[in-house]
Amino acid sequence: MEALTAQTPGAAEDLGVSNSAIEISQVCKRFGRGSQVLKDVSLRIAPGEMVALIGASGSGKSTLIRTIAGLTPIDDKSDCESRINIFGESMQARGRVTGRAGALRARVGVIFQQFNLVGRLSVLTNVSLGLLGQVPHWRGALGRFTRDEKLQAMRALHRVGIEEQALKRGSELSGGQQQRAAIARTLVQGADVLLADEPIASLDPSSARRVMDILSDLNEREGITLLVSLHQVEYAMRYCPRTVALRDGEVVYDGPSAALTPAFLGELYGAESKELFLPGLEEPGEDRPEPTRLWDPHAMNGGSLPSDNVAVAGNA
Ligand SMILES: Nc1ncnc2c1ncn2[C@@H]1O[C@H](COP(=O)(O)OP(=O)(O)OP(=O)(O)O)[C@@H](O)[C@H]1O
Ligand SMILES: [Mg+2]
Repeated sequence: MEALTAQTPGAAEDLGVSNSAIEISQVCKRFGRGSQVLKDVSLRIAPGEMVALIGASGSGKSTLIRTIAGLTPIDDKSDCESRINIFGESMQARGRVTGRAGALRARVGVIFQQFNLVGRLSVLTNVSLGLLGQVPHWRGALGRFTRDEKLQAMRALHRVGIEEQALKRGSELSGGQQQRAAIARTLVQGADVLLADEPIASLDPSSARRVMDILSDLNEREGITLLVSLHQVEYAMRYCPRTVALRDGEVVYDGPSAALTPAFLGELYGAESKELFLPGLEEPGEDRPEPTRLWDPHAMNGGSLPSDNVAVAGNA
């Protein structure tokens, strides 16, 4: 299926290779003898963009994010130049992860739904672990950081609003606080591209908004390029000017998030589109009226997300 694309400020066509923060070209991925999980995915994300990646469960969001981060090798296709570049430097090419161990990887921070903090270590040490690529191996392994390094970690914790939690163990923080600590770790790492794989899927609505506000602020104020996979399209519309939609490993839409009406998503995903909306909204249907929205997706700055007492089933 040919992807629907619409021009957005950072959308691919008008960009040269060198000014892309992330450039993905003809990427395919198959695990073993299984079916193809990514099918010829190509897209470019300009520096400073905040782009949502949406798609039903199993559509390939996590796999795509892992390939961009160099955590999962892409397939080697003899008939084309499959590659992933970060700021013009090769992260993957022809089936091999080529990203240089230090510099390029340090520029790409990844956060996951499960936060991935070390529960028994202090929050400060967890955040300092973002420096692992920059300090001598033995010091990092022993968790010995200098005063300056700890100050750097404290500044990052302050940036995400949880500096007062610094000396608690990672496991003592709430989910939202753990995710903010994980974001702080990528700041300490020096990442200027942040890949977030369903960063709010395990959070209550209030914590989810807080985390998305922080990501959005980092994007706006510090120009960090963000690709964030989201299960629920309301958040994509609220926070990300551009959305890339995957279906069965293919890009089926790349354009303004504001175009993602229930009817349009129904066209793209059929019955699967139901799982892309927050529970509580009416399901898209041919002869139903436009669903009553809890917020106005077109008021990108003025709209507010559903209040905290709106249940998000399965995300407790
Ligand atoms: N390591 C792996 N080995 C084999 N198959 C895998 C592996 N990782 C992912 N897959 C398969 O690839 C497909 C896409 O998975 P992926 O996790 O990328 O989807 P997703 O869009 O992130 O889904 P979800 O919304 O549930 O997180 C699925 O069919 C999954 O079973
Ligand atoms: Mg996933």
